[in-house]
Amino acid sequence: MNKINNNWEYIDPWSDAFIIDGSADKVVRLPHTVQELPLHYANSESYQKVVGYRKKLTFDSSLKDRRYFIRFDGSAHKTTVYFNGKELYVHSCGYTAFIVELTDNILFDQENVLTVKVDSRESLNTPPFGFVIDYLTYGGIYRDVWLYDKPAYFIKDVFVTTNTLDTVSVSIQTDGLVPFDSYQVKILDSKGEIIAQQAVSINTRQIQIPVKNIHAWSAKSPTLYRCIVELGDDTFVTSFGFRTIRFDQNNLYINGQKVFLRGLNRHQCYPYIGYAAVDSLQEEDARILKEELHVNAVRTSHYPQSQSFIDACDRYGLYVFTEIPGWQHIGDETWKQQAIQNTKDMVLQYRNHPSIILWGVRINESLDDDELYAKTNEVARNLDPTRPTAGVRYLTKSHLLEDIYTFNDFSHHGDNKGALSKTEVMVDTHHPLIISEANGHMFPTKSFDTQARRQEHALRHARVFSDAMADHQHTGVFQWCMFDYATHKDFGSGDRICYHGVMDSFRNPKLAASVYASQQDEEPILEISTSMDIGDYNAGNLPDFYAFTNADEVRLYKNDQFVSEFSRSEYSGLKHGPIRIDDTIGKLLLENENFTSKQADDIRKCLLASKKYGNNLPLRYRLLYAKMMFQYKMKYSDGVALYGKYVSGWGSDSITWRFDAIKNGEVVKSIIKRPSAKLHLSYQVSRTTLIEGDCYDMSAIRIQVKDEYHNLASYAQLPLNLITTGPIEIVGPNTVVTEGGMTGTYIKTTGEEGEAILTISTSDCSAITIHFTITKGNHTL
Ligand code: GAL
Repeated sequence: MNKINNNWEYIDPWSDAFIIDGSADKVVRLPHTVQELPLHYANSESYQKVVGYRKKLTFDSSLKDRRYFIRFDGSAHKTTVYFNGKELYVHSCGYTAFIVELTDNILFDQENVLTVKVDSRESLNTPPFGFVIDYLTYGGIYRDVWLYDKPAYFIKDVFVTTNTLDTVSVSIQTDGLVPFDSYQVKILDSKGEIIAQQAVSINTRQIQIPVKNIHAWSAKSPTLYRCIVELGDDTFVTSFGFRTIRFDQNNLYINGQKVFLRGLNRHQCYPYIGYAAVDSLQEEDARILKEELHVNAVRTSHYPQSQSFIDACDRYGLYVFTEIPGWQHIGDETWKQQAIQNTKDMVLQYRNHPSIILWGVRINESLDDDELYAKTNEVARNLDPTRPTAGVRYLTKSHLLEDIYTFNDFSHHGDNKGALSKTEVMVDTHHPLIISEANGHMFPTKSFDTQARRQEHALRHARVFSDAMADHQHTGVFQWCMFDYATHKDFGSGDRICYHGVMDSFRNPKLAASVYASQQDEEPILEISTSMDIGDYNAGNLPDFYAFTNADEVRLYKNDQFVSEFSRSEYSGLKHGPIRIDDTIGKLLLENENFTSKQADDIRKCLLASKKYGNNLPLRYRLLYAKMMFQYKMKYSDGVALYGKYVSGWGSDSITWRFDAIKNGEVVKSIIKRPSAKLHLSYQVSRTTLIEGDCYDMSAIRIQVKDEYHNLASYAQLPLNLITTGPIEIVGPNTVVTEGGMTGTYIKTTGEEGEAILTISTSDCSAITIHFTITKGNHTL
């Protein structure tokens, strides 16, 4: 199977003359977007159009007896395929793959014309359209296109299941008249060694192969195997994992081990290019989820996402909840038939992925439609009896035709419990309950919002998680969402961005990302929710703040003097809940002033209370102040002076605050907060070796402005100039501005191999240069 992503003639708008020989506007490469968009204020009107793609193909008559196919992995949203002028196929889903057989229409040893009409108008009568949608739906042939040939007979599909960990069950489907009486089925381990092999009669559609000593697949240990089926000249290869799924009333068991799903929702969009991202960028999102956010699960809201993303979930180890396309609306009969077809295509195309553990067979947040959902459930269960069905609703007590109640729980609004109880949500509580979304629009938070808001954003994510975990009634939580995304005018912050992400649009982490990142024990995490600059808070009062960490405790030092240690988290459901830091005086009064321990403690309490309550001091503190005056003989001015020295610090010398994260008695991470105006740029690049060949390649560069203590300069809004040399180009504008101290860019290869450099510069900091090596290579399947 070869990728045919290069050299597509392109026309916008479509014209029927283009089917055979009308002239083209330009030549493009896939993945392709019909319209590049700005980061902010992207207009959904601009990508809604009908365009054409055309490619010339030749076939050698010496291979006349083969059968030829084209596979489109994703084309948004209605795709009509013409071959040598004849309409061969129409596909009405922008999120599933489809295959078109060319065989009977090929002209051998001469030029054949493959023309593709792509309609990306949101007026189409197909999911997800028909109402409003809270995300952009973009347009174009935005995933790979493949050309391949087969013998007259071939293996059409192989479905591998592992209901027990000592048997592989393989179902085989063929096409055409098979001139053999058996297939060979081989099972290979991750090193490529054959661990089981069987010759099977051609009439056997399903075989059971016993295996021994296998390594099960789980998010913690994602071991992959391969199944190869050989039939004469044809071979079918699929990877799979040994993995069992079982739910009881409240729990999920993977291979018999209880697992709580700790996940985020992911859209498949990127700034500027929308959906048109190459495989390596898709893989990068899976890596970020696993290695940076440390979640164990992802929901592919609200459609099946690219195979490369799901492959990467298989490899990195993420539990995936995938679902059919749609958003709140159910259309007419034709529309519903398409939703049923989408269910079928989704299950058939993704069912060998061990990462996928749930099929979403309802239109996200639609009302009950028992007739439709009885069918989608039936389709999924028939095509895959091994996975439970689910379907996302915002309705409590809706009809449950699925195995799992997946519920968007937006009940948390800051000062109530984080999640509704099972009895508040479901009629029949014998089924498991998963939160499929939470937070999101309830508390949109920009990377350039105030520290107080960013802290509350993070705490809300922690509350939902903690409460859902603590009540032992929830089987998992997928919160909304991984990163900020572009949306329609009806949603978002006016600039048509939903700032719902725990990361920004470029996948730079906001504070809320650390709630997720800290729920593991492999890598030390410490984030402090404030810069300690009192001027950022009302009346210069630094409120209680939080450490997001997986350490045992956090020790605070002021100008190298120990203040106090903090370890208790109110978020008891979480393994490593955020730790409140409510005392920046601690031992300092005792150490630095001439007080007894009791006096120092009373004064400390009074000063902290004054900070917290201002003039509305509760009676107990007023009494304590009276004690200070009469018993400790302190004057009002003494109190004011101590307040200035230990609390407000207006105009005081710069303070160095140090936070040490302590694990098993050792400092595993330190953060220093101190006023700093010396900024520098820092960056992370997704990859520096790029492969150019049958597809261009891309790299994502995340850019952050940091101070000299390596803290994010979250109010830095610096214009950055991006310049390239060598065979790469910038995707999007050549000047970007940091928002909340962060931004990003993408580069893509230009068809050549060689060395390339991206330079990022701004007048206030030293420039960054990133070197790339572009090598030639192709992708085959
Ligand atoms: C949900 C919806 C998501 C997103 C989210 C924002 O209702 O399913 O797509 O719009 O709200 O919080």
